[in-house]
Amino acid sequence: EKGTYNHFMLKEIDEQPFVIRNIIQKYQNSDGNIKLDKDIRQAINDADRLYIIAAGTSYHAGLVGKELMEKVAEKPVEVHIASEFLYNEPILSKKPLFIFISQSGETADCRGVLVNVKKQGYKSLTITNVPGSTLAREADFTLHTYAGPEIAVASTKAYTAQMAVLSILAMDSAKAQGIDTDFDAMQELGLAANAMESLCDQKETMEQIAKDYMSGTRNCFFIGRALDYHVVQEGALKLKEISYIQAEGFAGGELKHGTIALIEKGTPVIAVITQEHINLNIRGNVQEVEARGANACIVSTDRTKEEGDHIVMPDIHERMTPIVSVVPLQLIAYYAALHRGCDVDKPRNLAKSVTVE
Ligand code: M6R
Repeated sequence: EKGTYNHFMLKEIDEQPFVIRNIIQKYQNSDGNIKLDKDIRQAINDADRLYIIAAGTSYHAGLVGKELMEKVAEKPVEVHIASEFLYNEPILSKKPLFIFISQSGETADCRGVLVNVKKQGYKSLTITNVPGSTLAREADFTLHTYAGPEIAVASTKAYTAQMAVLSILAMDSAKAQGIDTDFDAMQELGLAANAMESLCDQKETMEQIAKDYMSGTRNCFFIGRALDYHVVQEGALKLKEISYIQAEGFAGGELKHGTIALIEKGTPVIAVITQEHINLNIRGNVQEVEARGANACIVSTDRTKEEGDHIVMPDIHERMTPIVSVVPLQLIAYYAALHRGCDVDKPRNLAKSVTVE
């Protein structure tokens, strides 16, 4: 039930810190070690490459999952859009493990791929919010995201839960391989949950940004680099699916190769800047769009902030930032849709789970 909330989406955004804390508990043994089925650990260890298959928001979580797996656990990962992989299978490695990420566990495009790879004799793991779902039942292994039922069509807490589980898997895999890493997923997730909470407490700011930037606009651009690029793709999807504003997430450095032609006086551009090593590069991209009249809004962290940034999130481990930096983007999308009079929880033309190919 919605309780005191007018919309499930806002309730589900607010639930995220609790979901992350719940995941920490569920994936931890009493001795503090990661609780994970040893067969799953073995399957990940045995694989020479992980193939993440997903759609929409879950695909965006997969993109972040790849960064975590590769940087923390040194495991090569490919991330594929399920409907693309289905009819255009790439050359596979010798020992692939397929990881399906799906909130509902019912996405037909993912199921199609699962059926195909099973026929080819490959092992599969489903990461889902619905343990009894088709993808959960049909894969060799399942991991639960413990986000609780997600009712709003726009996925929020399932996305952050997926990334949380992926961060735990990355740390577990690093440990299983004896890789010396300073990345303590459980501790970092705890800090991320606190940071999410502080952003959820800044709703007035997000609402004001939505009013200032989105009320009359036809389009909106989101820019970021590396991890932030994956997050802005998700921010753009959130905004377009519930507010019907045409929105796209771009890699900051790619803008000048074409898309910058679309920037006009007043075009909103939201930049996410959470990583120190590319802070200056992305700020350069912000200057480029501002010089063409864009109305830029910057989301940064205590580490990367500069005077005049619009939203500054608390510092957390750089690899964990997507779990937190997406929260303002979710809230801006929510308030943009609300003020444009859109049906936030049930956007036009969309269903919660897409069970047809
Ligand atoms: O249930 P799934 O995670 O497999 O769904 C995948 C997409 O259909 C879903 O994430 C969709 O993009 C959401 N409406 C985005 O908010």
